[in-house]
Amino acid sequence: MKKLSLIALTLLAALPGVAQSPPKVEKLAPYYPTPEIVVDKMLQLGGLKRGEKMFDLGSGDGRIVIMAAQKFGALATGVEIDHDLWKQSSEKIRSLGLEKTAKIINGDAYAQNYSSADVVTVYLLPHANDKMRPMLEKQLKKGARIVSHDFEFKDWKPEKTETIDDDGEGRSHTLYLYRR
Ligand SMILES: C[S@@+](CC[C@H](N)C(=O)[O-])C[C@H]1O[C@@H](n2cnc3c(N)ncnc32)[C@H](O)[C@@H]1O
Repeated sequence: MKKLSLIALTLLAALPGVAQSPPKVEKLAPYYPTPEIVVDKMLQLGGLKRGEKMFDLGSGDGRIVIMAAQKFGALATGVEIDHDLWKQSSEKIRSLGLEKTAKIINGDAYAQNYSSADVVTVYLLPHANDKMRPMLEKQLKKGARIVSHDFEFKDWKPEKTETIDDDGEGRSHTLYLYRR
């Protein structure tokens, strides 16, 4: 009996479309961290307040989540697909004693639920913003703020745009604030 089940399973796995391989996760951007000075501006622009819920979509080394929890007193969640970055950022959160207010989910930013979010931060490529837009429109509650670093969301009108001319390393950055 055991043997039969094993054979059946092996056959099923060989049939395309019958045995489901895990869905392929789309890479939404390479890892490219936001300078700390810009992180601060993003969270200020989003008007993040103590006790509010914020999410960073593709959280990298966790710097936005960490500042949101540490400096702004928010309940902060990052979503990061890269296992090493997830591990590194989760360890940093633990070492700073922020486990009660900050966490990183190791998963696909597209596959999460953001309906509780007050503020969402995004530093992803334009094609990723296009992909995220309908999902955010559906999930986000009225009044939720989205702050996007460098890349706009098509069809959304920013409430405010802010430029940082020099991040200390000679690079300029543009931030877009949207409100649902
Ligand atoms: C440009 S970096 C931004 C990192 C961080 N948010 C910041 O601003 O410092 C984009 C991050 O998104 C992550 N990423 C790419 N595709 C993803 C996906 N489908 N789900 C979750 N994270 C993803 C990358 O691994 C990378 O760490």
